[in-house]
Amino acid sequence: MSSQPLVVIDGIKIDVRLTRAKRLAIVDTATFDIHLGEIIGLIGESGSGKTMLCRSLVGTLHRRGAYIAAGQLTFDGIDLVAAKGNAWTEIRGKRIGYVPQSALAGPNPVMTIGAQLVEAIMQDKSFPKDKVNERAIELLNIVQIRRPEVVMHQYQHELSGGMKQRVMIACAIAQRPQLIVADEPTTGLDVTVQAEIMRLLLDIRSEFNTSIILVSHDLPLVNQICDNIVVMHAGSTVERIASKQITDAKHPYTRALYNSRIDLVEPKGQLTTINGQAPTVGNWPAGCRFADRCDFVQEACRVPQTMPILPTGPGQFSTCLRYNELDK
Ligand SMILES: Nc1ncnc2c1ncn2[C@@H]1O[C@H](COP(=O)(O)OP(=O)(O)OP(=O)(O)O)[C@@H](O)[C@H]1O
Ligand SMILES: [Mg+2]
Repeated sequence: MSSQPLVVIDGIKIDVRLTRAKRLAIVDTATFDIHLGEIIGLIGESGSGKTMLCRSLVGTLHRRGAYIAAGQLTFDGIDLVAAKGNAWTEIRGKRIGYVPQSALAGPNPVMTIGAQLVEAIMQDKSFPKDKVNERAIELLNIVQIRRPEVVMHQYQHELSGGMKQRVMIACAIAQRPQLIVADEPTTGLDVTVQAEIMRLLLDIRSEFNTSIILVSHDLPLVNQICDNIVVMHAGSTVERIASKQITDAKHPYTRALYNSRIDLVEPKGQLTTINGQAPTVGNWPAGCRFADRCDFVQEACRVPQTMPILPTGPGQFSTCLRYNELDK
């Protein structure tokens, strides 16, 4: 792994415009790095801001009426906060591939799979036109779609969920991006297809040294696939932890997520859940946003503050004031 991170997300705050004068913070604040060839799992309850953070990496926040209000975001040294239209056409799709959360709805229903792949390939205007079909078939082969020549002429309604997701991944890797942002690429797929898609992402990483952000609600799955895990809670990144350390997490929220996983291998009988609900956007408490649900809460946690980013190991952090007391 190179020493310089490929992506630096530092104190990113994302606001949405509600009216001309009114703004609402939906991410506040996100901080973590991604190295070349690293797979990062991004987890957290629904509404914690995972998708909006992904959108900030591909410059599509404006399509949701949102924008980066503060912080720094760089990709290979390029300032993505300052990037404007033309700069994005050189980055989105070309250097950062995106598999959006709704991808299971599938590729464009009115275009053949081949036409969509051609479109993805031709984002590079210099790509030789006589080689486009060959490259489209090569991409379908990379994502292990059988009979690619036939699939090229099919429409999305003719494909299974797993095949649609493979096509979305083929489009995302068409330009050999250095980073793939995959927002819940396996939600809604059965477990065997899920495993195949995960294997595919791992193969892409080993072959091309691609960095991957994998958004998922499935902590055991993320834990198996990813090198490191970033945990979001109520608009903030609260922990970055190595997957192999997950049983020794340094934030009570990560521990609670891990303890509430469904373990099919060793069923625990009663399922554990996290007390209460995550605070919704616009209703975040000052101080630690997990305080009301936390077994380790004390007065200091409720003091109005931006929670500090406390180093817990090389490249890792927790925002829990009591991170080193959790096992006492
Ligand atoms: N345009 C908008 N206006 C107001 N609130 C918004 C807007 N877009 C997103 N939000 C809110 O921002 C928060 C973060 O949304 P986001 O989609 O990033 O969550 P998520 O972590 O991806 O959730 P999920 O796991 O359900 O996909 C949510 O509470 C959502 O309701
Ligand atoms: Mg989402």
